[in-house]
Amino acid sequence: MKTITVSLGKRSYPICIGAGIRNSAGKFLQRFHLPRHLVIVTDTIVARLYLDDVRRSLERAGFAVFSIVIPPGESQKSLQRAGAMYTELLHHRIGRKATIVALGGGVVGDLAGFIAATYQRGVNFMQMPTTLLAQVDSSVGGKVGINHPLGKNMIGAFYQPLSVLADTEMLQSLPQRERVCGIGEVIKYGIILDKRFFEYVRKNLTNILAMEPTVVANVVARCCELKAFVVSRDEKEENMRAILNFGHTVGHALEQAGHYRSLKHGEAILLGMVAETFLASRLKMISAEDVRRIEEVVAAVPVPRSLGFSFSAAKLIETMRNDKKSVAGTVRFVLPERVGAVTLPMPVKEGAIAGALDYLEKFVKRL
Ligand SMILES: NC(=O)c1ccc[n+]([C@@H]2O[C@H](COP(=O)([O-])OP(=O)(O)OC[C@H]3O[C@@H](n4cnc5c(N)ncnc54)[C@H](O)[C@@H]3O)[C@@H](O)[C@H]2O)c1
Repeated sequence: MKTITVSLGKRSYPICIGAGIRNSAGKFLQRFHLPRHLVIVTDTIVARLYLDDVRRSLERAGFAVFSIVIPPGESQKSLQRAGAMYTELLHHRIGRKATIVALGGGVVGDLAGFIAATYQRGVNFMQMPTTLLAQVDSSVGGKVGINHPLGKNMIGAFYQPLSVLADTEMLQSLPQRERVCGIGEVIKYGIILDKRFFEYVRKNLTNILAMEPTVVANVVARCCELKAFVVSRDEKEENMRAILNFGHTVGHALEQAGHYRSLKHGEAILLGMVAETFLASRLKMISAEDVRRIEEVVAAVPVPRSLGFSFSAAKLIETMRNDKKSVAGTVRFVLPERVGAVTLPMPVKEGAIAGALDYLEKFVKRL
Protein backbone atom coordinates (compact mmCIF):
# COMPACT_ATOMS: atom_id res chain seq x y z
CA MET A 1 0.00 0.00 0.00
CA LYS A 2 1.29 3.48 -0.85
CA THR A 3 0.43 6.49 1.32
CA ILE A 4 0.50 10.12 0.20
CA THR A 5 -0.26 13.00 2.55
CA VAL A 6 -2.28 16.08 1.76
CA SER A 7 -0.58 18.61 4.05
CA LEU A 8 -3.11 21.03 5.49
CA GLY A 9 -1.92 21.50 9.08
CA LYS A 10 -4.40 19.99 11.52
CA ARG A 11 -6.62 18.90 8.63
CA SER A 12 -3.86 16.94 6.87
CA TYR A 13 -4.96 13.52 5.71
CA PRO A 14 -3.60 10.36 4.10
CA ILE A 15 -4.47 9.00 0.67
CA CYS A 16 -3.91 5.24 0.77
CA ILE A 17 -3.58 3.42 -2.53
CA GLY A 18 -3.42 -0.34 -2.96
CA ALA A 19 -5.00 -3.34 -4.66
CA GLY A 20 -7.70 -5.03 -2.57
CA ILE A 21 -7.59 -2.55 0.33
CA ARG A 22 -11.40 -2.23 0.45
CA ASN A 23 -11.29 -5.51 2.37
CA SER A 24 -9.31 -3.88 5.17
CA ALA A 25 -11.31 -0.62 5.24
CA GLY A 26 -12.56 -1.43 8.76
CA LYS A 27 -9.09 -1.92 10.21
CA PHE A 28 -7.91 1.20 8.44
CA LEU A 29 -10.74 3.31 9.87
CA GLN A 30 -10.10 2.08 13.42
CA ARG A 31 -6.98 4.23 13.56
CA PHE A 32 -9.16 7.37 13.44
CA HIS A 33 -11.01 6.42 16.68
CA LEU A 34 -14.35 7.29 15.12
CA PRO A 35 -17.75 6.87 16.79
CA ARG A 36 -19.50 3.62 15.78
CA HIS A 37 -21.99 4.87 13.23
CA LEU A 38 -20.98 4.97 9.59
CA VAL A 39 -23.18 5.84 6.63
CA ILE A 40 -22.02 4.49 3.28
CA VAL A 41 -23.30 6.48 0.31
CA THR A 42 -23.00 4.64 -2.98
CA ASP A 43 -24.82 4.11 -6.27
CA THR A 44 -26.65 1.00 -7.45
CA ILE A 45 -23.85 -0.13 -9.80
CA VAL A 46 -21.09 0.14 -7.22
CA ALA A 47 -23.35 -1.31 -4.51
CA ARG A 48 -23.84 -4.48 -6.56
CA LEU A 49 -20.09 -4.87 -7.01
CA TYR A 50 -18.46 -3.72 -3.77
CA LEU A 51 -20.90 -2.72 -1.03
CA ASP A 52 -20.91 -6.17 0.61
CA ASP A 53 -17.08 -6.30 0.78
CA VAL A 54 -16.83 -2.87 2.34
CA ARG A 55 -19.72 -3.38 4.74
CA ARG A 56 -18.30 -6.73 5.89
CA SER A 57 -14.91 -5.21 6.56
CA LEU A 58 -16.40 -2.29 8.49
CA GLU A 59 -18.72 -4.48 10.55
CA ARG A 60 -15.90 -6.87 11.40
CA ALA A 61 -14.05 -3.88 12.83
CA GLY A 62 -17.05 -3.10 15.09
CA PHE A 63 -18.76 -0.32 13.11
CA ALA A 64 -22.55 -0.06 12.73
CA VAL A 65 -23.19 0.52 9.04
CA PHE A 66 -26.19 2.17 7.41
CA SER A 67 -26.21 2.61 3.65
CA ILE A 68 -27.87 4.99 1.23
CA VAL A 69 -27.92 3.71 -2.35
CA ILE A 70 -28.75 6.21 -5.10
CA PRO A 71 -29.19 5.75 -8.86
CA PRO A 72 -25.99 6.34 -10.87
CA GLY A 73 -25.32 9.42 -12.97
CA GLU A 74 -24.56 13.13 -12.96
CA SER A 75 -28.27 14.00 -12.56
CA GLN A 76 -27.98 12.83 -8.94
CA LYS A 77 -25.78 15.80 -8.04
CA SER A 78 -28.96 17.80 -7.48
CA LEU A 79 -30.77 19.74 -4.78
CA GLN A 80 -33.61 17.23 -5.01
CA ARG A 81 -31.33 14.25 -4.31
CA ALA A 82 -29.58 16.11 -1.51
CA GLY A 83 -32.97 16.92 0.04
CA ALA A 84 -34.06 13.29 -0.11
CA MET A 85 -30.80 12.22 1.53
CA TYR A 86 -31.15 14.69 4.42
CA THR A 87 -34.65 13.27 4.98
CA GLU A 88 -33.34 9.70 4.96
CA LEU A 89 -30.60 10.54 7.46
CA LEU A 90 -33.08 12.28 9.75
CA HIS A 91 -35.62 9.44 9.53
CA HIS A 92 -32.92 7.02 10.62
CA ARG A 93 -31.86 9.35 13.44
CA ILE A 94 -28.31 9.62 12.16
CA GLY A 95 -26.60 12.04 14.54
CA ARG A 96 -23.77 14.50 14.11
CA LYS A 97 -21.19 12.00 15.35
CA ALA A 98 -21.73 9.75 12.31
CA THR A 99 -19.16 9.43 9.53
CA ILE A 100 -20.25 9.54 5.91
CA VAL A 101 -18.27 7.23 3.63
CA ALA A 102 -18.49 7.96 -0.12
CA LEU A 103 -18.09 4.68 -2.00
CA GLY A 104 -18.24 5.47 -5.71
CA GLY A 105 -17.15 7.73 -8.52
CA GLY A 106 -16.97 11.51 -8.58
CA VAL A 107 -20.74 11.88 -8.52
CA VAL A 108 -21.09 9.96 -5.26
CA GLY A 109 -17.99 11.65 -3.81
CA ASP A 110 -19.13 15.20 -4.62
CA LEU A 111 -22.70 14.58 -3.44
CA ALA A 112 -21.86 12.61 -0.28
CA GLY A 113 -19.17 15.17 0.58
CA PHE A 114 -21.69 17.97 0.19
CA ILE A 115 -24.10 16.16 2.51
CA ALA A 116 -21.26 15.56 5.00
CA ALA A 117 -20.33 19.26 4.89
CA THR A 118 -23.88 20.44 5.57
CA TYR A 119 -25.80 17.77 7.51
CA GLN A 120 -26.16 19.00 11.09
CA ARG A 121 -23.46 21.61 10.32
CA GLY A 122 -20.95 18.99 9.22
CA VAL A 123 -20.11 15.39 10.04
CA ASN A 124 -16.95 13.33 9.45
CA PHE A 125 -16.30 12.37 5.86
CA MET A 126 -14.23 9.70 4.20
CA GLN A 127 -13.68 8.93 0.52
CA MET A 128 -13.48 5.47 -1.09
CA PRO A 129 -13.23 6.36 -4.80
CA THR A 130 -14.10 3.61 -7.28
CA THR A 131 -13.53 5.19 -10.70
CA LEU A 132 -10.19 6.15 -12.22
CA LEU A 133 -11.36 9.76 -12.39
CA ALA A 134 -12.29 9.76 -8.71
CA GLN A 135 -9.04 8.05 -7.63
CA VAL A 136 -6.79 10.44 -9.56
CA ASP A 137 -8.75 13.61 -9.00
CA SER A 138 -12.18 14.16 -7.47
CA SER A 139 -11.68 12.35 -4.14
CA VAL A 140 -8.63 14.46 -3.28
CA GLY A 141 -8.71 18.13 -2.33
CA GLY A 142 -12.05 18.63 -0.60
CA LYS A 143 -14.17 20.17 -3.36
CA VAL A 144 -17.68 18.89 -2.77
CA GLY A 145 -20.91 20.04 -4.31
CA ILE A 146 -23.96 19.66 -6.48
CA ASN A 147 -25.17 21.17 -9.74
CA HIS A 148 -27.78 23.86 -10.30
CA PRO A 149 -29.86 23.97 -13.49
CA LEU A 150 -27.95 27.18 -14.32
CA GLY A 151 -24.48 25.72 -13.87
CA LYS A 152 -22.31 22.81 -12.85
CA ASN A 153 -20.94 22.58 -9.29
CA MET A 154 -22.55 25.91 -8.45
CA ILE A 155 -23.49 24.90 -4.90
CA GLY A 156 -20.83 23.41 -2.68
CA ALA A 157 -18.03 23.75 -0.19
CA PHE A 158 -14.40 22.99 0.50
CA TYR A 159 -14.66 20.10 2.93
CA GLN A 160 -11.66 17.84 3.35
CA PRO A 161 -12.12 14.12 4.07
CA LEU A 162 -10.48 12.36 7.03
CA SER A 163 -8.79 10.13 4.51
CA VAL A 164 -9.01 8.69 1.01
CA LEU A 165 -8.84 4.93 0.51
CA ALA A 166 -8.28 4.08 -3.15
CA ASP A 167 -8.53 0.38 -3.95
CA THR A 168 -7.10 0.10 -7.47
CA GLU A 169 -8.49 -3.44 -7.83
CA MET A 170 -11.99 -1.94 -8.05
CA LEU A 171 -10.99 -0.24 -11.31
CA GLN A 172 -10.92 -3.61 -13.07
CA SER A 173 -14.71 -3.58 -13.39
CA LEU A 174 -14.88 -0.11 -14.97
CA PRO A 175 -16.46 0.04 -18.42
CA GLN A 176 -14.22 1.39 -21.18
CA ARG A 177 -16.02 4.75 -21.35
CA GLU A 178 -15.29 5.39 -17.66
CA ARG A 179 -11.63 4.43 -18.16
CA VAL A 180 -11.42 7.04 -20.91
CA CYS A 181 -12.93 9.68 -18.59
CA GLY A 182 -10.24 9.01 -15.99
CA ILE A 183 -7.51 9.16 -18.61
CA GLY A 184 -8.66 12.68 -19.47
CA GLU A 185 -7.71 13.90 -15.99
CA VAL A 186 -4.52 11.78 -15.99
CA ILE A 187 -3.30 13.45 -19.20
CA LYS A 188 -4.21 16.82 -17.71
CA TYR A 189 -1.75 16.30 -14.81
CA GLY A 190 1.05 15.61 -17.27
CA ILE A 191 0.31 18.74 -19.29
CA ILE A 192 -0.05 21.10 -16.35
CA LEU A 193 2.77 19.89 -14.12
CA ASP A 194 4.92 16.98 -15.17
CA LYS A 195 6.41 16.37 -18.60
CA ARG A 196 8.02 13.06 -17.55
CA PHE A 197 4.67 11.79 -16.35
CA PHE A 198 3.06 12.92 -19.62
CA GLU A 199 5.59 10.78 -21.49
CA TYR A 200 4.93 7.81 -19.18
CA VAL A 201 1.18 8.13 -19.81
CA ARG A 202 1.67 8.51 -23.55
CA LYS A 203 3.77 5.34 -23.71
CA ASN A 204 1.42 3.39 -21.44
CA LEU A 205 -1.96 4.45 -22.81
CA THR A 206 -2.86 0.90 -23.82
CA ASN A 207 -1.83 -0.44 -20.43
CA ILE A 208 -3.86 2.22 -18.64
CA LEU A 209 -6.90 1.47 -20.77
CA ALA A 210 -6.44 -2.21 -19.93
CA MET A 211 -6.08 -1.29 -16.22
CA GLU A 212 -2.78 -3.14 -16.01
CA PRO A 213 -2.36 -3.30 -12.19
CA THR A 214 1.22 -1.98 -11.82
CA VAL A 215 0.80 0.82 -14.34
CA VAL A 216 -2.53 1.88 -12.90
CA ALA A 217 -1.13 1.91 -9.36
CA ASN A 218 1.75 4.12 -10.57
CA VAL A 219 -0.62 6.45 -12.39
CA VAL A 220 -3.03 6.83 -9.45
CA ALA A 221 -0.13 7.45 -7.05
CA ARG A 222 1.57 10.08 -9.26
CA CYS A 223 -1.68 11.96 -9.91
CA CYS A 224 -2.48 11.98 -6.18
CA GLU A 225 1.03 13.26 -5.41
CA LEU A 226 0.58 16.08 -7.92
CA LYS A 227 -2.89 16.98 -6.67
CA ALA A 228 -1.76 16.82 -3.03
CA PHE A 229 1.14 19.15 -3.91
CA VAL A 230 -1.23 21.71 -5.45
CA VAL A 231 -3.95 21.49 -2.80
CA SER A 232 -1.43 21.72 0.05
CA ARG A 233 -0.23 25.03 -1.38
CA ASP A 234 -3.61 26.53 -2.28
CA GLU A 235 -6.55 24.75 -0.67
CA LYS A 236 -9.26 27.26 -1.63
CA GLU A 237 -8.19 27.99 -5.21
CA GLU A 238 -7.02 31.51 -4.56
CA ASN A 239 -4.21 31.06 -7.00
CA MET A 240 -2.21 27.98 -8.02
CA ARG A 241 -5.06 25.45 -7.63
CA ALA A 242 -6.77 27.06 -10.62
CA ILE A 243 -4.30 25.28 -12.91
CA LEU A 244 -6.23 22.05 -12.26
CA ASN A 245 -8.97 23.63 -14.36
CA PHE A 246 -7.03 23.30 -17.61
CA GLY A 247 -9.52 22.01 -20.21
CA HIS A 248 -12.43 22.68 -17.87
CA THR A 249 -13.67 26.07 -19.15
CA VAL A 250 -14.54 24.58 -22.53
CA GLY A 251 -15.18 21.14 -20.99
CA HIS A 252 -17.86 22.29 -18.54
CA ALA A 253 -19.61 24.28 -21.29
CA LEU A 254 -19.64 21.20 -23.56
CA GLU A 255 -20.99 19.02 -20.77
CA GLN A 256 -23.79 21.48 -20.13
CA ALA A 257 -24.56 21.90 -23.84
CA GLY A 258 -24.98 18.12 -24.10
CA HIS A 259 -27.25 18.21 -21.00
CA TYR A 260 -24.71 16.03 -19.13
CA ARG A 261 -25.85 13.09 -21.27
CA SER A 262 -24.02 13.35 -24.60
CA LEU A 263 -20.57 13.79 -23.06
CA LYS A 264 -19.28 12.57 -19.72
CA HIS A 265 -17.13 14.87 -17.61
CA GLY A 266 -13.79 13.27 -18.49
CA GLU A 267 -14.64 13.13 -22.21
CA ALA A 268 -15.56 16.80 -22.19
CA ILE A 269 -12.26 17.62 -20.45
CA LEU A 270 -10.28 15.72 -23.09
CA LEU A 271 -11.93 17.78 -25.82
CA GLY A 272 -11.69 20.95 -23.75
CA MET A 273 -7.92 20.46 -23.53
CA VAL A 274 -7.69 20.34 -27.34
CA ALA A 275 -9.66 23.60 -27.72
CA GLU A 276 -7.69 25.36 -24.98
CA THR A 277 -4.36 24.18 -26.43
CA PHE A 278 -5.48 25.61 -29.78
CA LEU A 279 -6.16 28.94 -28.03
CA ALA A 280 -2.65 28.91 -26.58
CA SER A 281 -1.17 28.23 -30.02
CA ARG A 282 -3.18 31.11 -31.55
CA LEU A 283 -1.76 33.36 -28.85
CA LYS A 284 1.72 32.07 -29.75
CA MET A 285 2.26 30.77 -26.25
CA ILE A 286 3.09 27.12 -27.07
CA SER A 287 5.23 25.48 -29.74
CA ALA A 288 3.66 23.64 -32.69
CA GLU A 289 5.56 20.55 -31.52
CA ASP A 290 3.88 20.55 -28.10
CA VAL A 291 0.46 21.18 -29.65
CA ARG A 292 1.02 18.13 -31.83
CA ARG A 293 2.03 16.00 -28.82
CA ILE A 294 -1.06 17.00 -26.86
CA GLU A 295 -3.41 16.44 -29.80
CA GLU A 296 -1.79 13.09 -30.60
CA VAL A 297 -2.27 11.73 -27.12
CA VAL A 298 -5.92 12.86 -27.01
CA ALA A 299 -6.55 11.33 -30.44
CA ALA A 300 -5.02 8.05 -29.27
CA VAL A 301 -7.65 7.76 -26.52
CA PRO A 302 -11.00 6.40 -27.70
CA VAL A 303 -12.82 9.72 -27.20
CA PRO A 304 -16.30 10.11 -28.75
CA ARG A 305 -16.04 10.35 -32.52
CA SER A 306 -18.97 12.75 -32.51
CA LEU A 307 -20.13 15.24 -29.92
CA GLY A 308 -23.63 13.78 -30.07
CA PHE A 309 -25.14 17.28 -30.34
CA SER A 310 -24.61 20.39 -32.39
CA PHE A 311 -23.58 23.52 -30.60
CA SER A 312 -23.54 27.21 -31.27
CA ALA A 313 -20.27 28.89 -30.33
CA ALA A 314 -22.20 31.94 -29.05
CA LYS A 315 -24.23 29.79 -26.65
CA LEU A 316 -21.17 27.95 -25.38
CA ILE A 317 -19.39 31.25 -24.75
CA GLU A 318 -22.46 32.48 -22.87
CA THR A 319 -22.22 29.37 -20.67
CA MET A 320 -18.50 30.04 -20.14
CA ARG A 321 -19.28 33.57 -18.92
CA ASN A 322 -21.16 31.94 -16.02
CA ASP A 323 -18.16 29.72 -15.24
CA LYS A 324 -16.73 30.20 -11.74
CA LYS A 325 -13.38 31.24 -13.25
CA SER A 326 -14.97 34.16 -15.12
CA VAL A 327 -14.39 37.59 -13.65
CA ALA A 328 -17.07 40.24 -14.28
CA GLY A 329 -18.36 38.21 -17.25
CA THR A 330 -14.91 37.88 -18.87
CA VAL A 331 -14.11 34.28 -19.73
CA ARG A 332 -10.70 33.14 -18.51
CA PHE A 333 -8.61 30.12 -19.42
CA VAL A 334 -5.68 28.17 -18.02
CA LEU A 335 -3.45 27.86 -21.08
CA PRO A 336 -0.52 25.53 -21.71
CA GLU A 337 2.88 27.11 -22.34
CA ARG A 338 4.48 23.72 -22.98
CA VAL A 339 3.91 20.13 -21.90
CA GLY A 340 4.51 20.39 -18.14
CA ALA A 341 3.59 24.04 -17.54
CA VAL A 342 0.44 26.17 -17.78
CA THR A 343 -0.58 29.75 -16.99
CA LEU A 344 -2.95 30.89 -14.25
CA PRO A 345 -6.42 31.77 -15.63
CA MET A 346 -6.17 34.60 -18.13
CA PRO A 347 -8.74 36.48 -20.23
CA VAL A 348 -9.08 35.61 -23.89
CA LYS A 349 -11.02 37.55 -26.54
CA GLU A 350 -14.33 35.98 -27.54
CA GLY A 351 -13.41 35.94 -31.24
CA ALA A 352 -10.48 33.65 -30.40
CA ILE A 353 -12.71 31.39 -28.29
CA ALA A 354 -15.15 31.04 -31.20
CA GLY A 355 -12.18 30.09 -33.43
CA ALA A 356 -11.08 27.41 -30.95
CA LEU A 357 -14.58 25.92 -30.82
CA ASP A 358 -14.68 25.81 -34.59
CA TYR A 359 -11.29 24.07 -34.58
CA LEU A 360 -12.55 21.56 -31.99
CA GLU A 361 -15.52 20.59 -34.17
CA LYS A 362 -13.13 19.89 -37.04
CA PHE A 363 -10.74 17.97 -34.75
CA VAL A 364 -13.56 15.66 -33.62
CA LYS A 365 -14.63 15.05 -37.23
CA ARG A 366 -11.04 14.11 -38.15
CA LEU A 367 -10.80 11.47 -35.42
N1 LIG B 1 -14.52 17.32 -6.58
C1 LIG B 1 -13.62 17.42 -7.51
O1 LIG B 1 -12.50 17.93 -7.27
C2 LIG B 1 -13.90 16.86 -8.86
C3 LIG B 1 -12.88 16.72 -9.82
C4 LIG B 1 -13.19 16.13 -11.06
C5 LIG B 1 -14.48 15.72 -11.32
N2 LIG B 1 -15.45 15.87 -10.37
C6 LIG B 1 -16.83 15.42 -10.61
O2 LIG B 1 -16.80 14.00 -10.74
C7 LIG B 1 -17.95 13.59 -11.48
C8 LIG B 1 -17.57 12.52 -12.47
O3 LIG B 1 -17.08 11.43 -11.76
P1 LIG B 1 -16.91 9.98 -12.43
O4 LIG B 1 -16.31 10.14 -13.76
O5 LIG B 1 -16.27 9.13 -11.43
O6 LIG B 1 -18.41 9.56 -12.74
P2 LIG B 1 -19.52 8.74 -11.92
O7 LIG B 1 -19.40 8.97 -10.47
O8 LIG B 1 -20.81 9.09 -12.58
O9 LIG B 1 -19.15 7.23 -12.23
C9 LIG B 1 -19.21 6.78 -13.54
C10 LIG B 1 -20.00 5.48 -13.68
O10 LIG B 1 -19.16 4.40 -13.27
C11 LIG B 1 -19.85 3.55 -12.37
N3 LIG B 1 -18.82 2.97 -11.51
C12 LIG B 1 -18.19 3.56 -10.48
N4 LIG B 1 -17.22 2.77 -10.01
C13 LIG B 1 -17.26 1.64 -10.74
C14 LIG B 1 -16.49 0.44 -10.74
N5 LIG B 1 -15.45 0.29 -9.92
N6 LIG B 1 -16.81 -0.53 -11.63
C15 LIG B 1 -17.83 -0.35 -12.51
N7 LIG B 1 -18.57 0.76 -12.57
C16 LIG B 1 -18.28 1.76 -11.70
C17 LIG B 1 -20.83 4.46 -11.69
O11 LIG B 1 -21.92 3.73 -11.19
C18 LIG B 1 -21.25 5.38 -12.82
O12 LIG B 1 -22.26 4.78 -13.58
C19 LIG B 1 -18.51 14.85 -12.13
O13 LIG B 1 -19.69 15.22 -11.46
C20 LIG B 1 -17.43 15.88 -11.90
O14 LIG B 1 -17.94 17.19 -11.79
C21 LIG B 1 -15.19 16.43 -9.16
